[in-house]
Amino acid sequence: MTASTKTLTTKTPATPKPAAAAQDAIALLKADHGTVSGLFEEYEKADSSKKRKALVAEICTELSVHAQIEEEIFYPAVKAALKDKLLVPEATVEHASLKDLIAQIEGVEPDGELYAAKVKVLSEYVKHHVKEEQNEMFPKAKATSLDLAELGVQMAARKTELLAARA
Ligand SMILES: [Fe+2]
Ligand SMILES: [Fe+2]
Repeated sequence: MTASTKTLTTKTPATPKPAAAAQDAIALLKADHGTVSGLFEEYEKADSSKKRKALVAEICTELSVHAQIEEEIFYPAVKAALKDKLLVPEATVEHASLKDLIAQIEGVEPDGELYAAKVKVLSEYVKHHVKEEQNEMFPKAKATSLDLAELGVQMAARKTELLAARA
């Protein structure tokens, strides 16, 4: 056995690390789904236009960033690993519809029944989309040899970047 020249003392404690513990890709995406579902619940209970507007802004930001990291990093990896021609294209088409609804809602004053209807449809659409990801795509992705930990690191970094750009 050869002694390693590297010792534990070479570890640099000054390396900046993200505040949150590293999540694998699926844990990260599920956490995002949970955040958005919680925001929709808060929206339902909100008792003023001001609160509704702030919550919708948050929902739109969360969803847009989430969709982008899926499309840029997660979906291509899953598509390649599964040789998938079905789940990822369908999810991508659903993202396009979600983005279309987001564009109709984002930055608009929450007045009138059409606004409320659009948020309602967005929430239902998101529920459907999340269910398909969590019940079909994620279990299949887990069963591949994909490095979900590494994907999670990449996605977390990209998410931080996108959120900063929107702030
Ligand atoms: Fe998605
Ligand atoms: Fe998702």
